[in-house]
Amino acid sequence: MYKLTLLFISIAVLSSCSKSLSKKEVEQYTIKGKEIAQTTAKKLGGTLVEKMKDGGVKEAVPFCNSEALPLTEEMGVKFNVSIKRTSNLLRNETNKPNDEEVLILNNYSKLFAENKPMKPVVELDNSGNPHFYAPIILQKKCLTCHGEIGVDVTKKSDSIIESLYPKDLAKGYKEGDLRGIWSITFKATE
Ligand code: HEC
Repeated sequence: MYKLTLLFISIAVLSSCSKSLSKKEVEQYTIKGKEIAQTTAKKLGGTLVEKMKDGGVKEAVPFCNSEALPLTEEMGVKFNVSIKRTSNLLRNETNKPNDEEVLILNNYSKLFAENKPMKPVVELDNSGNPHFYAPIILQKKCLTCHGEIGVDVTKKSDSIIESLYPKDLAKGYKEGDLRGIWSITFKATE
């Protein structure tokens, strides 16, 4: 009986270590992740459009500089998750990818280069939390700040960007390019 109890305990411990998400959980986190990414993109984009209307890139870039991260964080609090946008060509170093995000970014880059569909990914991360990843695709409206200098990004805009981000790598993009990823961490439910 003692041995049997021990066996059951070992099984319980082992199975909790190798815990993975069920198909249903993956589906649910995919839906939720997409919703959070879309709502956050809308929130960031909407406020950006207002700023552009007010004073063009001159107003909008400093706005992104001071508000993009707090706004993203605010949305995370609202949805009880942690939200990050990251890329392998960064504008703001604070958005630097961690090891897991580097793997995901490389995977999407490969799919993008091969013209294959880039579906959202849901998996348990190193801390055991459900994690949602999805590609961020560059749209036409993003070109004013992330496109080609002298073509989409005026020289004047570029100098504003350079003054705030001397190490900026996030330009030279074309519409439809892979700009980066959404990385959304859910809290493990137990
Ligand atoms: C008005 C200029 C402007 C426009 C338009 C703009 N961005 Fe940005 N973007 C920025 C700035 C400035 C940052 C740095 C924000 C920060 O400091 O957190 C940034 C950061 C990012 C990041 C975070 C990763 C990084 O490189 O730091 C992503 C992803 C991104 N932009 C995607 C987009 C997409 C997609 C669009 C179009 C839907 C877009 N941006 C439109 C100025 C702009």
